[in-house]
Amino acid sequence: MAQEKDDTFLSEDHFEPFQPSESFKKNAKVNDNSFYREAQDDRLAFWSRMAGNLQWTKKWERVLDEDNPPYYKWFINGKLNVSENCLDVHIKNGRGDKRALIFEGEEGDTVSLTYKELLKEACKFSNVLDQLGVKKGDAVTIWMPMIPEAIVAMLACTRIGAVHSVVFGGFSPDALKDRILDSDSKLVITADGANRRGKVIPMRSAAEETLNDCPSVEKVVTVKRTGTAYESKEGRDLAWSEIMAEAGETFEPVTMDAEDPLFILYSSGTTGKPKGILHTTGGYLVGVNATFHYVFDHDDDDIYWCTADIGWITGHSYIVYGPLSNGSSTFIYEGTPDYPNRDRFWELVEKYKITVFYTAPTAIRSFMRWGNQYADKRDLSSLRLLGSVGEPINPEAWLWYHEHIGQGKCPIVDTWWQTETGMIMITPLPGVTPLKPGSASYSFPGVEADVVDDHGNSTKPGQRGFLVIKSPWPAMLRTLYGDPDRFESTYWQQYPGLYFTGDGAWKDKDGYFWIMGRVDDVLNVSGHRIGTMEVESALVEHPAAAEAAVIGKVHEIKGHSITAFVTLKEGYEGSEELVQELKNHVGKKIGAIARPEEIFFTYELPKTRSGKIMRRLLRDIAEQRDLGDVTTLMDPQVVAAIKEGYTEK
Ligand code: WTA
Repeated sequence: MAQEKDDTFLSEDHFEPFQPSESFKKNAKVNDNSFYREAQDDRLAFWSRMAGNLQWTKKWERVLDEDNPPYYKWFINGKLNVSENCLDVHIKNGRGDKRALIFEGEEGDTVSLTYKELLKEACKFSNVLDQLGVKKGDAVTIWMPMIPEAIVAMLACTRIGAVHSVVFGGFSPDALKDRILDSDSKLVITADGANRRGKVIPMRSAAEETLNDCPSVEKVVTVKRTGTAYESKEGRDLAWSEIMAEAGETFEPVTMDAEDPLFILYSSGTTGKPKGILHTTGGYLVGVNATFHYVFDHDDDDIYWCTADIGWITGHSYIVYGPLSNGSSTFIYEGTPDYPNRDRFWELVEKYKITVFYTAPTAIRSFMRWGNQYADKRDLSSLRLLGSVGEPINPEAWLWYHEHIGQGKCPIVDTWWQTETGMIMITPLPGVTPLKPGSASYSFPGVEADVVDDHGNSTKPGQRGFLVIKSPWPAMLRTLYGDPDRFESTYWQQYPGLYFTGDGAWKDKDGYFWIMGRVDDVLNVSGHRIGTMEVESALVEHPAAAEAAVIGKVHEIKGHSITAFVTLKEGYEGSEELVQELKNHVGKKIGAIARPEEIFFTYELPKTRSGKIMRRLLRDIAEQRDLGDVTTLMDPQVVAAIKEGYTEK
């Protein structure tokens, strides 16, 4: 890994950095380097000042407890409530009539809730939770489309102190089941269905078997979104509209300790079992509140749109908790960018006068491929700042985004972070950082990222290595739910004292970070993390499959596409039907995002003498590169056979 870089395209010398314009700089929250200096001088004092922007019912006694690494604690003995900080405080500050949440559905239906109205909804649902017996510390699973009720449910959980586990609505009922079982949720909140490109996708009815198979689930609350029928079980099922109609409109927020669990979010890792990443109350909110404020240069008049789904960390941190704790107006859209037309997003930017827009490189690459005409015919002049997240943004996509969406005037914040980090970690600050297309630039103040070699030593400029974080930060994950051993081994054992991100990176001579993507068996498909092992385990659960190896093939739009190599059990023949069947099987086990794009049958997988599958070779075959060293292979014939099968296709 530790080698000189050879990516000439990603070279920092390719472009003159883009300087912030004088007009942007003038009004920016940060417009000189004193903010960085403050954090460098005293990191903990800096985070303490950031924490002071929130409302605490009791102030913390110590900023950081490092006594028992890697189990760090932040804001010791501080007390606060997240929903109070996202709702009540703004009303107290006279901003109750400001729009908090703006929603548009796929068919053009709209909802707009002021801070007062959103508080009322959250209080009503808190009363519902209370009546259903949900207590502080209980886990609640939320499996919903992108509708306002999902956010109301999240906020109500935080108000009452319940730990939400939001499961992406596009995950299959089987994937939902694993996550309900792992978190031991007693309540599931869902919808009857979701709208997707003009079609209705049933949710509640599709989850019937899952719910019956989860003994912990006592109650199920279903929002009516599409009118899709489902079986309602007496004593278990409740309709959202009915229980909300009778619920009281106020609810005192439950006082939480800074280190009380806030939510679990499952994310893919290098085994078949997803990791339940646990975030806690105080540090998480301080981290997302501060980063939202400074990275998105929060202005009271902003209409902010992050296109992520609330089922991912980006949705948690930068649709819900970051924007709302800052008193921003956060816009959400139910649908996809290409329905009913490919200008849907730009139509929404024009209609709602979006000022700050945050999306993923995979979406930008699709827009680019569709052509300039869709954005060009819309009025995007309200935009003042753009963001990117989820994977490295290639300079070509960056430049297109800058010119066609940002009209050449909007800075782009390329933000690097993870489900585990909770908050943005490496990012430009738009009023000060000269932008280099393709680089996420510097650590956020108070964050200490670095690139190290195999021995944990900082690399020289231009030398590739592993991205690590050298000191604790407030929004860091606290553990993996129910699996502290995996928490320690995944993140803390590679380099003692350093947090291992799983990403490869290098720094240039100006100290800019250039992220190269994952170095482990985790794929990035359209900005979504999918573990190769998860897909492999799903494949081998099919009766025909004996063994499977899954790789990510470089894909122009998606970043990676999934290719699977499968050996069949005795008595099964490879056929086009079986390919379809296996693809559907993975779709059922995990969800459409994990469906392999290609499946190949082979009589054997290439393995080392110790029996480890050589994915590198499979990747080379799939990407039609010359094969490197194959001397460690157990059976070199296998490669020739697979290669032949692959090129025949
Ligand atoms: C990748 C999403 C390069 C990275 C917030 C990381 C990025 C993984 C960037 C986390 C970026 C995210 N540049 N790579 N700006 N942002 N990544 O947990 O590989 O879904 O480890 O969190 O996405 O994905 P996750």
